[in-house]
Amino acid sequence: MRNSKIAGVGHYVPEQVVTNKDLEKIMDTSDEWIRERTGIVERRYFQEGVDTTANMGAEAARRALKKAGMEAKDIDMIIFATLSPDYVFPGSGVLLQRELGLKEIPALDVRNQCSGFIYALSVGDQFIKTGMYDNILVVGSEIHSSGLDFSTRGRGVSVIFGDGAGAAVLTPSESNDRGILSTHLHADGEFAEELAVLAPGSNKKDRLTHEMLDNGDIFPYMNGNMVFKHAVTRFPEVIQEALQKNGYKPEDIDMLIPHQANLRITSYIQQKMGLPAERVFSNIHKYGNTTAASVPIALSEALEEGRIKDGDLVCLAAFGSGFTWASALIRW
Ligand code: UT7
Repeated sequence: MRNSKIAGVGHYVPEQVVTNKDLEKIMDTSDEWIRERTGIVERRYFQEGVDTTANMGAEAARRALKKAGMEAKDIDMIIFATLSPDYVFPGSGVLLQRELGLKEIPALDVRNQCSGFIYALSVGDQFIKTGMYDNILVVGSEIHSSGLDFSTRGRGVSVIFGDGAGAAVLTPSESNDRGILSTHLHADGEFAEELAVLAPGSNKKDRLTHEMLDNGDIFPYMNGNMVFKHAVTRFPEVIQEALQKNGYKPEDIDMLIPHQANLRITSYIQQKMGLPAERVFSNIHKYGNTTAASVPIALSEALEEGRIKDGDLVCLAAFGSGFTWASALIRW
């Protein structure tokens, strides 16, 4: 079976920069707390009427296509990962398809939160392996800022999230020792409600009530400490799984691109894997946590900064709501 490879990566972030100092003005928080606990300095927020989850994804896709030297019409399938779709239904995949002027090709929506992009990449990889499709657009895009609790009640969650989009074009690899070597996907629904938005929910007779609004059930809830503990276990585990599968050791990794959840989590993984800081990519200070968009934005910036070279061993890894976690090992 043929391997797939990433032929081009692109990203788009909204123009509006929101600093920790800006958040200090609207809730009881401090620049110092946010920097120390998360490493975040600023994030981007969308502009209503300009940015949508689908059109940010489309812009990231156009940039990825340009890098790949391809046009939208070359794409055979769209896979769109987001936890913040434009509508409850249909998913943002079809909106992105329309935005790119494409017709009839399949558009699949993936709901795996912070691990969404790697799950989507894995699905695309399988379609290319089987020969069903040749060129697949894999997109991660999020608008968090319209769904956060900006009162002091929500500060533990709202300061960490930001908006943005990233995309990759998957094509068949010329050889089986290049491209995506393997992907590894996991989930544990035991912890589903530990990082979740519970309302509106189809499991209630009234999907949205005043009580839900008053309780803040429409905002993300996160058991931060618990998520943190699981993250620092699952990240190294799923990276090791990818390395072992392919007969590599941590020191063989040229660039590790972890989901940007918290700088402390990234530093822990770096130490645990025994990697030098320059081989672990971090841009959380600029964008915060953009869930499904964080891995492709980071990958796109790493490439733009020349930090990934032809032939490098690149590892993508993520952990988040579900809980879900995943990795992909790529020979660039
Ligand atoms: O991407 C998906 C996966 N998500 C993650 O991986 C996130 C994992 N978790 C985390 O990154 C961390 O748990 C957080 C950054 C979310 C929180 O950091 P923490 O060190 O776990 O803080 P905490 O929740 O234990 O709160 C410590 C204190 C509390 O005050 P008391 O009870 O000690 O007086 C909070 O009320 O910090 C307070 N606090 C804040 N203070 C200022 C919580 N949020 C804030 C805030 N500003 N924004």
